[in-house]
Amino acid sequence: MSIQRVMVIGAGQMGSGIAQVCAMSGYDVTLHDLKEEFVEKGLNGIKKQLQRQVDKERITETDMDRFLRQVQASTELSNAKDADIIIEAAVENMDIKKQLFVQLDQFAPDHAILATNTSSLPITEIAAVTKRPEQVIGMHFMNPVPVMKLVEIIRGLATTDETFNTVKEMAESLKKTAVEVNDFPGFVSNRILMPMINEAIYTVFEGVASPEDVDEVMKLGMNHPMGPLTLADFIGLDTCLSIMETLHEGFGDDKYRPCPLLRKYVKAGWLGKKAGRGFYNYS
Ligand code: CAA
Repeated sequence: MSIQRVMVIGAGQMGSGIAQVCAMSGYDVTLHDLKEEFVEKGLNGIKKQLQRQVDKERITETDMDRFLRQVQASTELSNAKDADIIIEAAVENMDIKKQLFVQLDQFAPDHAILATNTSSLPITEIAAVTKRPEQVIGMHFMNPVPVMKLVEIIRGLATTDETFNTVKEMAESLKKTAVEVNDFPGFVSNRILMPMINEAIYTVFEGVASPEDVDEVMKLGMNHPMGPLTLADFIGLDTCLSIMETLHEGFGDDKYRPCPLLRKYVKAGWLGKKAGRGFYNYS
């Protein structure tokens, strides 16, 4: 199956990044969110990123204009009727995702693939609310999408080889490396990353070291580009907590218990960079 028209649901950090890389690889993109102002914010983010590429003389002004023209704004889910693939990057909430997939299944043409960028929710459970579970798949991009090379492709129980191969080819056309993963809590990326972040938070919680020192150890000692607490702030502490909860519930093992300090920060609204405060202060 050949893909030309992509609809991205959710114009936040991940959705707008996905829309940007799709447009830059020649796809026609529809960027959808609940309100016009959310879509506008996402489009402005894309413009800013592309302008940086122009300033660094990696693309021309003409390229930038062409890429921007390739992205249409949408606030109506019925626009899914024109899509070959829909990539959902809305909030990490199973009920919301299920509601979206029920509607997308109604609006999208029969041949369309329904993909989700979920970072840990079960693909099989999302697929089960549709009448096309064989065409539902996880397409997990990493943040920041334009920079990170990986797309984790997650097969649900019913996902066919045809769907998998089409999505893998598409990811490669975006100049990403696709890795095949089966549907287990946290997939591979977050099953390994989040317990490390959670342990870093426990290290602060138990007074072993300050956030700055924990980050310094991992940056200089392990050559990580960002320390785990800086990375947690960058991902969003609410997202980190929800992934830990998925791991804890999914495996039923206490080694995945979210650190109480993580819960406390989320309750305080200290959600990381996007909120101006997390383990660090951004204001
Ligand atoms: N959007 C687009 N581009 C960005 C960006 C952003 N938000 N932030 C930085 N960049 C680009 C810069 O423009 C720069 O590009 P060029 O080299 O082409 O000029 C490049 O990234 C490097 O940026 P900087 O030199 O400013 O800073 P850096 O060297 O510290 O790199 C980083 C920034 C790429 C974010 C790096 O710190 C890094 O790799 N951090 C770890 C990121 C990571 O682990 N991501 C995965 C998160 S987990 C996830 O996404 C999955 C999940 O489900 C939670």
